[in-house]
Amino acid sequence: MARADAGNGGRRKSVPIWPTLKPPVPRAAMPRHVAIIMDGNGRWARQRGLVRIRGHEAGVEAVRDVVRYCGQTHVQALTLYAFSTENWQRPRKEVQYLMRLLKRYLVEELDELHANKVRLTSIGGVHRLPGDVLSCLEKAQTHTAGNSGLTLCLALSYGSHEELLDAARDLSAQAARGDLAPERIDAAAVEAALHSAGIPPVDLLIRTAGERRVSNFLLWQACDAFFHVTDTCWPNFRRADVAEAIHALAAAPSDVEPR
Ligand code: FPP
Repeated sequence: MARADAGNGGRRKSVPIWPTLKPPVPRAAMPRHVAIIMDGNGRWARQRGLVRIRGHEAGVEAVRDVVRYCGQTHVQALTLYAFSTENWQRPRKEVQYLMRLLKRYLVEELDELHANKVRLTSIGGVHRLPGDVLSCLEKAQTHTAGNSGLTLCLALSYGSHEELLDAARDLSAQAARGDLAPERIDAAAVEAALHSAGIPPVDLLIRTAGERRVSNFLLWQACDAFFHVTDTCWPNFRRADVAEAIHALAAAPSDVEPR
């Protein structure tokens, strides 16, 4: 991999520049938007006699590899379900550790993501994140906002119901102000009011660790998505598993009619 200096706040360090890879299927069959429910960190750790947080830690390596691969094969958008609204109910120590991992990822990966033209975005109730994590997230988003490569969207404190409720509130406030006639509320208006506005619909939804549930993830955006479930636990998931899911999508009969 070529390397480049990335300037960030006075620091200069060398970061890998990702070589373009041949996509696993012809470009026309490539998904524009891949979304992943990253599951099985706890099981991965338990199978090894480790504490759960070791599974989350190992999961960061999977995040790194999958992000690079999607960037290298010119997927337009990758959304990762990194923390759900339900995840706040986990033990305090586990939540704290997940927040620490997230912050570390945002700090350590920013130069490499930026050098490779990744635009980082987020969906979800991010105002609930601890202040230091939120400011790293905002910094990463601002820093990469003008990038034209992969859109990496982190779903944080995310729940699809909550997102749809936000959109409903937003649209009804516009209607109450007289800015939007109720009869003009159509699919485009709803999409524009979602946290994910501007990101294409999900073509491929992947869930790791075997469970066949959508779990309140991108219910609107993934309404026509191909759902690929793998038994692999997230910490073991790598680019070859993304390629396998893309092959499965390309091989699947498609009777999706244009909306
Ligand atoms: C589900 O596994 C996974 C999560 C709740 C968190 C995912 C977080 C990461 C992969 C690390 C940090 C993320 C980024 C973007 C840097 P689980 O704990 O529910 O597993 P289990 O069902 O086997 O118990």
